[in-house]
Amino acid sequence: MNPIYAIRDTSSIYSPALLFYKDLIQRNIDLAVRIAGTASRLRPHVKTHKTREIVHMELKAGITKHKCATLAEAEMLASCGVAEVFIAYNLVGPNTLRLSKLMQLYPHCRFSTQADHPITLEGLSRAMQRAGLTLEILLDLDVGQHRTGMPAGDDALALYRQIAHTPGIRPGGLHVYDGHNNQAAVEDREAAVAQLLGPVNQLRERIQKEGLPTPRIIVGGTPTFPVYAKLDLPGLECSPGTLFLHDQGYGGKFTDLQGFTPAALLFTRVVSKPMPTRLTLDLGYKAVASDPPAGKRLALLDLPDYEAVLQNEEHLVIETPHAARYLPGDEFFAIPTHICPTCAMHRSAYVIENGALVGQWDIVARDRVLTV
Ligand SMILES: Cc1ncc(COP(=O)(O)O)c(C=O)c1O
Repeated sequence: MNPIYAIRDTSSIYSPALLFYKDLIQRNIDLAVRIAGTASRLRPHVKTHKTREIVHMELKAGITKHKCATLAEAEMLASCGVAEVFIAYNLVGPNTLRLSKLMQLYPHCRFSTQADHPITLEGLSRAMQRAGLTLEILLDLDVGQHRTGMPAGDDALALYRQIAHTPGIRPGGLHVYDGHNNQAAVEDREAAVAQLLGPVNQLRERIQKEGLPTPRIIVGGTPTFPVYAKLDLPGLECSPGTLFLHDQGYGGKFTDLQGFTPAALLFTRVVSKPMPTRLTLDLGYKAVASDPPAGKRLALLDLPDYEAVLQNEEHLVIETPHAARYLPGDEFFAIPTHICPTCAMHRSAYVIENGALVGQWDIVARDRVLTV
Protein backbone atom coordinates (compact mmCIF):
# COMPACT_ATOMS: atom_id res chain seq x y z
CA MET A 1 0.00 0.00 0.00
CA ASN A 2 1.34 3.40 -0.93
CA PRO A 3 1.95 4.95 2.52
CA ILE A 4 0.34 8.25 1.44
CA TYR A 5 -3.04 6.49 1.47
CA ALA A 6 -2.63 4.42 4.65
CA ILE A 7 -5.17 5.08 7.45
CA ARG A 8 -4.24 4.03 10.96
CA ASP A 9 -7.75 3.11 12.09
CA THR A 10 -10.53 2.35 9.60
CA SER A 11 -12.96 0.87 12.12
CA SER A 12 -15.33 3.84 12.03
CA ILE A 13 -15.46 4.15 8.21
CA TYR A 14 -18.72 2.85 6.77
CA SER A 15 -18.10 1.39 3.35
CA PRO A 16 -18.46 2.19 0.54
CA ALA A 17 -16.93 5.56 1.32
CA LEU A 18 -15.40 8.54 -0.39
CA LEU A 19 -12.09 9.59 1.18
CA PHE A 20 -10.53 13.05 0.82
CA TYR A 21 -6.80 13.24 1.64
CA LYS A 22 -6.42 16.81 2.87
CA ASP A 23 -2.61 16.97 2.59
CA LEU A 24 -2.74 15.70 -0.99
CA ILE A 25 -5.46 18.19 -1.95
CA GLN A 26 -3.25 20.96 -0.53
CA ARG A 27 -0.34 19.65 -2.58
CA ASN A 28 -2.44 19.73 -5.75
CA ILE A 29 -3.66 23.27 -5.05
CA ASP A 30 -0.10 24.48 -4.45
CA LEU A 31 1.13 22.83 -7.65
CA ALA A 32 -1.73 24.35 -9.67
CA VAL A 33 -0.83 27.83 -8.40
CA ARG A 34 2.84 27.24 -9.25
CA ILE A 35 2.00 26.10 -12.80
CA ALA A 36 -0.37 29.04 -13.30
CA GLY A 37 2.40 31.41 -12.16
CA THR A 38 0.06 33.25 -9.78
CA ALA A 39 -3.26 32.50 -8.10
CA SER A 40 -4.87 35.32 -10.08
CA ARG A 41 -4.50 33.30 -13.30
CA LEU A 42 -6.56 30.46 -11.83
CA ARG A 43 -10.32 30.05 -11.80
CA PRO A 44 -10.85 26.50 -10.51
CA HIS A 45 -14.02 24.68 -11.47
CA VAL A 46 -15.85 23.66 -8.28
CA LYS A 47 -17.90 20.91 -9.93
CA THR A 48 -15.21 18.33 -9.15
CA HIS A 49 -15.54 18.45 -5.36
CA LYS A 50 -18.64 20.63 -4.62
CA THR A 51 -17.28 21.07 -1.10
CA ARG A 52 -17.03 24.20 1.08
CA GLU A 53 -13.87 23.15 2.89
CA ILE A 54 -11.92 22.76 -0.35
CA VAL A 55 -13.14 26.18 -1.50
CA HIS A 56 -11.72 27.57 1.77
CA MET A 57 -8.39 25.83 1.05
CA GLU A 58 -8.38 27.50 -2.38
CA LEU A 59 -9.16 30.88 -0.82
CA LYS A 60 -6.26 30.42 1.60
CA ALA A 61 -3.99 29.77 -1.39
CA GLY A 62 -4.96 33.20 -2.72
CA ILE A 63 -7.48 32.03 -5.32
CA THR A 64 -10.32 34.55 -5.51
CA LYS A 65 -12.03 33.61 -8.78
CA HIS A 66 -14.11 30.48 -9.18
CA LYS A 67 -16.06 28.68 -11.87
CA CYS A 68 -19.13 26.50 -11.56
CA ALA A 69 -21.75 24.75 -13.67
CA THR A 70 -24.88 24.97 -11.49
CA LEU A 71 -26.65 27.60 -9.45
CA ALA A 72 -26.33 25.41 -6.36
CA GLU A 73 -22.56 25.43 -6.83
CA ALA A 74 -22.71 29.21 -7.33
CA GLU A 75 -24.66 29.61 -4.09
CA MET A 76 -22.21 27.43 -2.18
CA LEU A 77 -19.27 29.45 -3.54
CA ALA A 78 -20.90 32.79 -2.67
CA SER A 79 -21.73 31.54 0.81
CA CYS A 80 -18.03 30.75 1.28
CA GLY A 81 -17.28 34.44 0.71
CA VAL A 82 -15.56 34.11 -2.67
CA ALA A 83 -15.16 37.34 -4.62
CA GLU A 84 -16.01 36.20 -8.16
CA VAL A 85 -18.19 33.38 -9.45
CA PHE A 86 -18.49 32.56 -13.15
CA ILE A 87 -21.39 30.25 -13.97
CA ALA A 88 -20.21 28.41 -17.07
CA TYR A 89 -23.67 27.40 -18.15
CA ASN A 90 -26.37 28.91 -20.35
CA LEU A 91 -29.15 29.96 -17.99
CA VAL A 92 -32.66 29.79 -19.40
CA GLY A 93 -36.21 29.72 -18.07
CA PRO A 94 -36.72 30.46 -14.36
CA ASN A 95 -33.00 29.99 -13.70
CA THR A 96 -32.49 33.58 -14.90
CA LEU A 97 -34.64 34.97 -12.08
CA ARG A 98 -33.03 32.52 -9.70
CA LEU A 99 -29.64 34.01 -10.54
CA SER A 100 -30.94 37.53 -9.85
CA LYS A 101 -32.14 36.33 -6.42
CA LEU A 102 -28.72 34.90 -5.73
CA MET A 103 -27.10 38.20 -6.73
CA GLN A 104 -29.39 40.07 -4.32
CA LEU A 105 -28.61 37.63 -1.53
CA TYR A 106 -24.83 37.88 -2.01
CA PRO A 107 -24.11 41.48 -3.08
CA HIS A 108 -20.40 41.12 -2.15
CA CYS A 109 -19.95 38.52 -4.86
CA ARG A 110 -19.35 39.45 -8.49
CA PHE A 111 -21.35 36.94 -10.52
CA SER A 112 -20.98 36.39 -14.24
CA THR A 113 -22.35 33.86 -16.67
CA GLN A 114 -22.09 32.89 -20.33
CA ALA A 115 -24.37 32.97 -23.37
CA ASP A 116 -24.23 31.87 -26.98
CA HIS A 117 -27.63 32.95 -28.34
CA PRO A 118 -29.62 36.21 -28.60
CA ILE A 119 -32.64 34.58 -26.90
CA THR A 120 -30.52 33.65 -23.88
CA LEU A 121 -29.24 37.22 -23.67
CA GLU A 122 -32.78 38.59 -23.80
CA GLY A 123 -33.90 36.28 -20.96
CA LEU A 124 -30.98 37.34 -18.78
CA SER A 125 -31.51 41.00 -19.63
CA ARG A 126 -35.20 40.80 -18.65
CA ALA A 127 -34.42 39.11 -15.34
CA MET A 128 -31.69 41.62 -14.48
CA GLN A 129 -33.79 44.64 -15.38
CA ARG A 130 -36.65 43.33 -13.29
CA ALA A 131 -34.27 43.06 -10.30
CA GLY A 132 -32.52 46.37 -11.04
CA LEU A 133 -29.16 44.61 -11.51
CA THR A 134 -26.42 44.42 -14.12
CA LEU A 135 -24.82 41.07 -14.96
CA GLU A 136 -21.52 40.45 -16.68
CA ILE A 137 -21.77 37.96 -19.54
CA LEU A 138 -18.95 36.14 -21.29
CA LEU A 139 -19.50 35.07 -24.86
CA ASP A 140 -19.23 31.27 -24.99
CA LEU A 141 -17.14 30.19 -27.98
CA ASP A 142 -17.29 26.77 -29.63
CA VAL A 143 -13.66 25.93 -30.28
CA GLY A 144 -14.26 22.35 -31.41
CA GLN A 145 -16.18 20.42 -28.77
CA HIS A 146 -19.55 21.37 -30.34
CA ARG A 147 -21.36 21.20 -27.00
CA THR A 148 -22.24 24.87 -26.55
CA GLY A 149 -20.93 28.15 -27.88
CA MET A 150 -20.60 29.75 -31.29
CA PRO A 151 -17.61 29.80 -33.63
CA ALA A 152 -15.30 32.80 -33.29
CA GLY A 153 -16.60 34.59 -36.41
CA ASP A 154 -18.95 37.36 -37.54
CA ASP A 155 -21.98 36.05 -35.60
CA ALA A 156 -19.90 35.96 -32.42
CA LEU A 157 -18.90 39.58 -32.96
CA ALA A 158 -22.56 40.52 -33.47
CA LEU A 159 -23.57 38.73 -30.27
CA TYR A 160 -20.80 40.46 -28.32
CA ARG A 161 -22.14 43.80 -29.58
CA GLN A 162 -25.59 42.74 -28.39
CA ILE A 163 -24.20 42.00 -24.91
CA ALA A 164 -22.65 45.47 -24.88
CA HIS A 165 -25.81 47.28 -26.00
CA THR A 166 -28.55 45.45 -24.07
CA PRO A 167 -29.77 46.87 -20.76
CA GLY A 168 -29.12 44.84 -17.61
CA ILE A 169 -26.07 43.05 -19.01
CA ARG A 170 -22.51 43.99 -19.92
CA PRO A 171 -19.64 42.21 -21.70
CA GLY A 172 -17.20 40.25 -19.53
CA GLY A 173 -14.95 38.64 -22.13
CA LEU A 174 -14.71 35.22 -23.75
CA HIS A 175 -15.22 31.68 -22.51
CA VAL A 176 -13.08 29.13 -24.34
CA TYR A 177 -13.59 25.57 -23.10
CA ASP A 178 -11.87 22.88 -25.14
CA GLY A 179 -13.01 19.64 -23.49
CA HIS A 180 -12.28 17.75 -26.72
CA ASN A 181 -8.55 18.44 -26.40
CA ASN A 182 -7.46 15.40 -24.46
CA GLN A 183 -4.66 14.14 -26.68
CA ALA A 184 -2.22 11.98 -24.72
CA ALA A 185 0.91 13.82 -25.92
CA VAL A 186 1.32 17.33 -24.55
CA GLU A 187 2.80 18.44 -27.91
CA ASP A 188 -0.48 17.50 -29.59
CA ARG A 189 -2.45 19.51 -27.00
CA GLU A 190 -0.09 22.45 -27.55
CA ALA A 191 -0.63 22.32 -31.32
CA ALA A 192 -4.42 22.10 -30.89
CA VAL A 193 -4.49 25.08 -28.51
CA ALA A 194 -2.31 27.17 -30.85
CA GLN A 195 -4.70 26.40 -33.67
CA LEU A 196 -7.91 27.19 -31.81
CA LEU A 197 -6.51 30.44 -30.42
CA GLY A 198 -5.94 31.90 -33.93
CA PRO A 199 -9.62 32.77 -34.59
CA VAL A 200 -10.22 33.55 -30.90
CA ASN A 201 -7.46 36.20 -30.90
CA GLN A 202 -8.74 37.62 -34.18
CA LEU A 203 -12.23 37.96 -32.73
CA ARG A 204 -10.83 39.63 -29.65
CA GLU A 205 -8.98 42.19 -31.77
CA ARG A 206 -12.12 42.97 -33.77
CA ILE A 207 -14.11 43.41 -30.56
CA GLN A 208 -11.49 45.73 -29.11
CA LYS A 209 -11.30 47.75 -32.36
CA GLU A 210 -14.97 48.58 -31.78
CA GLY A 211 -14.02 49.97 -28.38
CA LEU A 212 -15.67 47.14 -26.43
CA PRO A 213 -13.89 45.61 -23.42
CA THR A 214 -12.78 41.95 -23.20
CA PRO A 215 -11.54 41.92 -19.62
CA ARG A 216 -10.98 38.19 -19.39
CA ILE A 217 -10.65 35.00 -21.35
CA ILE A 218 -11.48 31.90 -19.33
CA VAL A 219 -9.87 28.82 -20.82
CA GLY A 220 -9.72 25.05 -20.67
CA GLY A 221 -9.90 22.24 -18.16
CA THR A 222 -7.23 19.95 -16.75
CA PRO A 223 -5.64 18.49 -19.92
CA THR A 224 -4.85 21.88 -21.49
CA PHE A 225 -4.14 23.71 -18.22
CA PRO A 226 -0.32 23.37 -18.46
CA VAL A 227 -0.53 24.48 -22.10
CA TYR A 228 -2.53 27.67 -21.50
CA ALA A 229 -0.59 28.43 -18.32
CA LYS A 230 2.55 29.01 -20.40
CA LEU A 231 0.85 31.61 -22.60
CA ASP A 232 1.02 35.35 -22.15
CA LEU A 233 -2.58 36.25 -22.99
CA PRO A 234 -4.09 39.38 -21.39
CA GLY A 235 -6.89 38.49 -18.97
CA LEU A 236 -6.09 34.75 -19.11
CA GLU A 237 -7.78 32.65 -16.42
CA CYS A 238 -7.27 28.86 -16.42
CA SER A 239 -10.23 26.82 -15.22
CA PRO A 240 -9.22 23.24 -14.46
CA GLY A 241 -11.40 21.31 -12.02
CA THR A 242 -10.38 17.67 -11.90
CA LEU A 243 -6.71 18.16 -11.06
CA PHE A 244 -7.46 19.40 -7.54
CA LEU A 245 -8.60 15.89 -6.65
CA HIS A 246 -7.19 14.20 -9.74
CA ASP A 247 -8.27 10.74 -10.88
CA GLN A 248 -7.29 7.62 -12.74
CA GLY A 249 -8.80 8.77 -16.04
CA TYR A 250 -6.45 11.75 -16.34
CA GLY A 251 -3.60 10.43 -14.16
CA GLY A 252 -3.32 7.24 -16.19
CA LYS A 253 -3.24 9.14 -19.48
CA PHE A 254 -1.31 12.41 -19.18
CA THR A 255 2.32 11.91 -18.19
CA ASP A 256 2.86 15.69 -18.07
CA LEU A 257 0.33 15.86 -15.19
CA GLN A 258 2.11 13.31 -13.04
CA GLY A 259 2.96 15.92 -10.42
CA PHE A 260 -0.71 15.87 -9.41
CA THR A 261 -1.66 13.13 -6.96
CA PRO A 262 -5.02 11.38 -6.74
CA ALA A 263 -6.38 12.91 -3.53
CA ALA A 264 -9.87 11.34 -3.43
CA LEU A 265 -10.15 7.59 -3.12
CA LEU A 266 -12.89 5.06 -2.59
CA PHE A 267 -12.87 2.71 0.37
CA THR A 268 -14.56 -0.67 0.01
CA ARG A 269 -14.78 -4.03 1.77
CA VAL A 270 -15.14 -7.62 0.63
CA VAL A 271 -18.73 -8.71 1.22
CA SER A 272 -18.74 -12.13 -0.45
CA LYS A 273 -16.57 -14.81 -2.04
CA PRO A 274 -19.09 -16.50 -4.34
CA MET A 275 -16.49 -18.57 -6.23
CA PRO A 276 -12.86 -19.56 -5.52
CA THR A 277 -11.50 -16.93 -7.91
CA ARG A 278 -14.05 -14.23 -7.17
CA LEU A 279 -14.39 -11.44 -4.64
CA THR A 280 -17.47 -9.26 -4.32
CA LEU A 281 -16.92 -5.73 -2.98
CA ASP A 282 -19.45 -3.18 -1.73
CA LEU A 283 -18.57 -0.81 -4.56
CA GLY A 284 -21.46 -0.72 -6.99
CA TYR A 285 -22.16 1.94 -9.55
CA LYS A 286 -24.09 3.97 -6.99
CA ALA A 287 -20.73 4.66 -5.34
CA VAL A 288 -18.49 5.28 -8.37
CA ALA A 289 -19.17 7.15 -11.59
CA SER A 290 -20.36 4.83 -14.33
CA ASP A 291 -19.66 7.07 -17.31
CA PRO A 292 -16.42 5.13 -17.99
CA PRO A 293 -17.08 1.70 -19.56
CA ALA A 294 -17.93 -1.25 -17.27
CA GLY A 295 -14.77 -2.83 -15.90
CA LYS A 296 -12.82 0.44 -16.17
CA ARG A 297 -14.51 2.63 -13.58
CA LEU A 298 -11.82 2.42 -10.93
CA ALA A 299 -8.33 1.11 -10.19
CA LEU A 300 -8.06 -1.09 -7.09
CA LEU A 301 -4.81 -0.49 -5.22
CA ASP A 302 -2.49 -3.34 -4.27
CA LEU A 303 -4.25 -5.91 -6.44
CA PRO A 304 -2.60 -5.66 -9.83
CA ASP A 305 -3.96 -8.93 -11.15
CA TYR A 306 -7.74 -8.68 -11.33
CA GLU A 307 -10.59 -8.13 -13.73
CA ALA A 308 -13.88 -6.43 -12.88
CA VAL A 309 -16.46 -8.82 -14.32
CA LEU A 310 -19.77 -7.50 -13.00
CA GLN A 311 -20.99 -4.31 -11.39
CA ASN A 312 -24.51 -3.78 -10.06
CA GLU A 313 -25.95 -0.96 -8.00
CA GLU A 314 -24.19 -1.98 -4.78
CA HIS A 315 -21.84 -4.80 -5.86
CA LEU A 316 -18.56 -4.99 -7.72
CA VAL A 317 -17.47 -8.52 -8.63
CA ILE A 318 -13.84 -9.10 -9.52
CA GLU A 319 -11.98 -12.16 -10.75
CA THR A 320 -8.51 -12.60 -9.34
CA PRO A 321 -6.09 -15.51 -8.90
CA HIS A 322 -5.37 -14.06 -5.45
CA ALA A 323 -8.96 -14.38 -4.16
CA ALA A 324 -7.97 -17.04 -1.60
CA ARG A 325 -5.95 -14.43 0.31
CA TYR A 326 -9.03 -12.39 1.19
CA LEU A 327 -11.93 -12.79 3.58
CA PRO A 328 -15.23 -10.94 4.04
CA GLY A 329 -14.51 -7.63 5.76
CA ASP A 330 -11.10 -7.16 4.16
CA GLU A 331 -10.52 -3.67 2.84
CA PHE A 332 -9.52 -2.19 -0.48
CA PHE A 333 -8.77 1.33 -1.67
CA ALA A 334 -9.56 2.41 -5.21
CA ILE A 335 -8.85 5.42 -7.40
CA PRO A 336 -11.97 6.31 -9.39
CA THR A 337 -11.56 6.78 -13.12
CA HIS A 338 -13.78 9.89 -13.09
CA ILE A 339 -13.81 11.68 -9.77
CA CYS A 340 -16.27 14.51 -10.52
CA PRO A 341 -19.50 12.47 -10.83
CA THR A 342 -18.15 10.08 -8.17
CA CYS A 343 -18.08 12.88 -5.58
CA ALA A 344 -21.66 13.80 -6.43
CA MET A 345 -22.76 10.27 -5.46
CA HIS A 346 -21.67 10.72 -1.85
CA ARG A 347 -23.34 12.93 0.72
CA SER A 348 -20.02 13.42 2.50
CA ALA A 349 -16.38 12.43 2.35
CA TYR A 350 -14.24 11.12 5.19
CA VAL A 351 -11.26 13.43 5.58
CA ILE A 352 -7.82 11.92 6.13
CA GLU A 353 -4.85 13.94 7.33
CA ASN A 354 -1.42 12.56 8.25
CA GLY A 355 -2.79 9.03 8.17
CA ALA A 356 -5.69 9.71 10.55
CA LEU A 357 -9.40 10.16 10.03
CA VAL A 358 -10.03 13.75 11.12
CA GLY A 359 -13.62 14.42 10.13
CA GLN A 360 -16.18 14.50 7.36
CA TRP A 361 -16.90 17.15 4.73
CA ASP A 362 -20.31 17.47 3.13
CA ILE A 363 -20.52 17.44 -0.65
CA VAL A 364 -22.91 20.36 -0.30
CA ALA A 365 -23.49 21.26 -3.93
CA ARG A 366 -24.41 17.73 -4.97
CA ASP A 367 -27.94 18.99 -4.30
CA ARG A 368 -29.53 20.81 -7.23
CA VAL A 369 -31.07 23.47 -5.00
CA LEU A 370 -29.59 24.81 -1.75
CA THR A 371 -31.79 27.69 -0.61
CA VAL A 372 -32.35 29.83 -3.72
C1 LIG B 1 -16.88 24.48 -18.97
C2 LIG B 1 -15.88 23.66 -18.22
N1 LIG B 1 -14.79 24.25 -17.73
C3 LIG B 1 -13.85 23.57 -17.04
C4 LIG B 1 -14.00 22.21 -16.81
C5 LIG B 1 -12.95 21.50 -16.00
O1 LIG B 1 -12.34 20.51 -16.77
P1 LIG B 1 -11.53 19.31 -16.10
O2 LIG B 1 -12.50 18.42 -15.48
O3 LIG B 1 -10.82 18.71 -17.29
O4 LIG B 1 -10.60 19.92 -15.15
C6 LIG B 1 -15.13 21.55 -17.31
C7 LIG B 1 -15.30 20.12 -17.11
O5 LIG B 1 -16.28 19.51 -17.40
C8 LIG B 1 -16.10 22.29 -18.04
O6 LIG B 1 -17.20 21.72 -18.53
